[in-house]
Amino acid sequence: MTGYAMLDAGYRTEVAALTGPLLLRSLDGRGERGAGDPGLAHHRRFWPEPVRVPPERLVLEAGRARIAGRGGADFPFARKLQVAIDSGRRRELVVNASEGEPASAKDSTLLLAVPHLVLDGAELVAEALGIGVVHVVVPGKRPAVTEAVRRAVAERPTGRRSLTFEIHPTSGGFVGGQSRAVLELLSGRDNLPVTSWEPEAVAGLRGRPTLMSNAETFAHLAAVHGVGVGAYTRLGTPDEPGTRLLSVAADGPGGVVVEVAHGEPLVNVLQLCGYEPDHPVLLGGYHGSWLSPAQVRQATISRAGLVPLRARLGAGVILPLLPGDCPVGFTAQIVGYLAERRAQRCGPCVFGLPALARACEQLALPAAGRTGPRPDVERVRELCTLVTGRGACQHPDGTARLVLSLLDTFEAEVLAHQHGTCRA
Ligand SMILES: Cc1cc2nc3c(=O)[nH]c(=O)nc-3n(C[C@H](O)[C@H](O)[C@H](O)COP(=O)(O)O)c2cc1C
Ligand code: SF4
Repeated sequence: MTGYAMLDAGYRTEVAALTGPLLLRSLDGRGERGAGDPGLAHHRRFWPEPVRVPPERLVLEAGRARIAGRGGADFPFARKLQVAIDSGRRRELVVNASEGEPASAKDSTLLLAVPHLVLDGAELVAEALGIGVVHVVVPGKRPAVTEAVRRAVAERPTGRRSLTFEIHPTSGGFVGGQSRAVLELLSGRDNLPVTSWEPEAVAGLRGRPTLMSNAETFAHLAAVHGVGVGAYTRLGTPDEPGTRLLSVAADGPGGVVVEVAHGEPLVNVLQLCGYEPDHPVLLGGYHGSWLSPAQVRQATISRAGLVPLRARLGAGVILPLLPGDCPVGFTAQIVGYLAERRAQRCGPCVFGLPALARACEQLALPAAGRTGPRPDVERVRELCTLVTGRGACQHPDGTARLVLSLLDTFEAEVLAHQHGTCRA
């Protein structure tokens, strides 16, 4: 790492972005405020201009580099692109930089610091598929990000044919970045998830096949194309080449955004961001899984490295607990937040999440503060089962996953809480 920049997303707090090995290599802030130089001239010193390539070549490059979606589900980008090619119809293209999770700052960092890398990735796809409009969905609560994209779009040459970038700020909070919620926004309706019977790759915006990917995913596509598959795959592990952006924040929005190669020990990431690696960590954000201090020492930043710990990176949010913080209390706060952010459309969100939030709150309270009987951990598990797989989107499933991982990782702490005491 040679430097960092303090980025102001225009929302409550600032983010420290560290210079990285690939996507963030052009970020040379040396600690001053501002995004280093996000301009096109600076960008082109590091990255070539996107050229029109046959779609099959893009699929091949994305496949050999094993680019997996960075919006949370790790879906192979090459497969998504192939579906778009095979559809053979007029297609839509969406860059999802909604970043609805407050603790996540990686997509905002990309758009503030290296917006042209994301736009290059989208342009590569648009040119290859003959798409004329790229929809860029940005977090409505971070106005500086919208401004940064506007500035970047205005700077870009129009190219061989006219390609337009349309910018859409979200209004839907935590669930507003879910793919169907994004399509609702683009269709002029409430920015909330809705039930759909077909994947957006088949019938998305205006009923057309829609390729929607996370902003970081497009940045990786541009990076693979820019440095070549060989150089990209020299980073990371053979199974998971390349790098990943992580948002590391102990206390909500802001924190540190860091880019590491896959396979990096979690301990190194925490130390790099100024945290002692001796405390529990919530990995994967608000829909993520808890790691005990012993598991923190075993974990590496890769899908394969996290399977034995039953954890996932999700969208790359890492929340380290600070000394004295209690995982039971922290989980109860997050579940309360998630229950409030639900879109009141499906049963598990209307009834299940509030019930789960109340149960977690009772568990977290000291005995004297409780209003009901002693909390029943089996009832909490039962509520998790009841909400899972029943919503139109994965919001209830993610919330249940977080609670279950608390119960499984911190059995002793949960038991103490059941008896009204806290070990933190
Ligand atoms: C509740 C919920 C919130 C989501 N929020 C975001 C988000 O803010 N940004 C994002 O890119 N994907 C988000 N997703 C995932 C998207 O639905 C979609 O899978 C993703 O944008 C696809 O891009 P990828 O293949 O590059 O990951 C969310 C999913 C759920 C269930
Ligand atoms: S599960 Fe919840 S967030 Fe998802 S679509 Fe249904 S009501 Fe909305």
